[in-house]
Amino acid sequence: MIRRIQQLFAERVHGTERPLMVRSPGRVNLIGEHTDYNEGFVLPAAIDKNIIMAVTPLNDSRFHFIAADLNQEYVGDLASVKKSPNGWPNYLLGVIDQMQKVGYPIRGCAVVFGGNIPIGAGISSSAALECGFAYALNELFDLGIDNLELVQLSQRAENQFVGVHCGIMDQFVNIFGRDRNVLKLDCRSLEYELVPFSRDDIEIVLCETEVRRALASSEYNVRRQQCEVGVKALQRVKPGVRSLRDVNLDMLREHRTMLDPIIYKRCEYVVRENARVLQGCEDLQRGDFRSFGQRMVESHEGLRDDYQVSSTELDALVELATSVSGVLGARMMGAGFGGCTINLVEEPRVREFVDVVRDRYHQPTGKSINVYVTRIQSGTSKLIDERIHV
Ligand code: GLA
Repeated sequence: MIRRIQQLFAERVHGTERPLMVRSPGRVNLIGEHTDYNEGFVLPAAIDKNIIMAVTPLNDSRFHFIAADLNQEYVGDLASVKKSPNGWPNYLLGVIDQMQKVGYPIRGCAVVFGGNIPIGAGISSSAALECGFAYALNELFDLGIDNLELVQLSQRAENQFVGVHCGIMDQFVNIFGRDRNVLKLDCRSLEYELVPFSRDDIEIVLCETEVRRALASSEYNVRRQQCEVGVKALQRVKPGVRSLRDVNLDMLREHRTMLDPIIYKRCEYVVRENARVLQGCEDLQRGDFRSFGQRMVESHEGLRDDYQVSSTELDALVELATSVSGVLGARMMGAGFGGCTINLVEEPRVREFVDVVRDRYHQPTGKSINVYVTRIQSGTSKLIDERIHV
């Protein structure tokens, strides 16, 4: 993959300089779904699915993006950065737009990129593109941006330019993720802790449904609003409540009658999910993957019944997975309405798990799934020369 990007760069970008090579990963989230924008807790990790970028400065204010996998390109000028109708350039344009808004001295550049993060699968290919490019520009033009600002700038690119009101989880783990660890992130303070997750006998397996996440962005915004409605109602009796992070189950139950039943369900899910992340971290610290896996299943039930962001396909996959022995936990991952499930599977059982789930999913539905056995790896980094040529 690296060589393919380098080759395309050599063919298409005329310049003498060798490009800066950057690797930017996708992510999983073990537990803590739809909690980031509620100032709660999440437990993601960067994985070994990557976007590879070759980037070089140009002598003028033009930028030239080449998407190797799509065989498409986009040319523009720093003087007039506008949204493209063509989707993918906006993740890069959004980063340029944000850098210009802050006043960072960037110049034109050429970017060739491609990779193996499945698109629309809930593995955050968009954050990988934004953060990888922000990281590359920072290196290329020596901008001195610190890691947290890279994260926040990339999130603003997605919120303001792309127009998706995501939380901070995906961008944060893309930059701060660490090999063999999951990242317990407090989305209020942005403090994080690395929690070891390095058992060779347990694999993280992703099962991707064919269903594209059509509803994801509109329903995502609806869920955000519903949480805000819940917070506003509770603030009338509890002025100290700033977000669902400040709410516990007792408080919620006590004021149940003030809340519309749908709003109540949404809030209850978030409050319970935050608690599950904290308890799940304790499980991991004790090495109790069984208990952790059980919490993943409870998280799925909450996402299905109370937060209502699952789908029949995701539910079927989780049900199938939990019927296979050696599966410690399974749940839908990411925004929902499609994408993939995340499964913790004992290593000797992985092959059997994959066969059973593929077969039993295919028989009634006629649909197939993609399966990825993933490893946790570090966040975005430069690819240094020696490694490029191996
Ligand atoms: C998407 C968003 C994240 C997060 C998840 C749900 O991946 O980009 O910020 O809200 O959905 O947990």
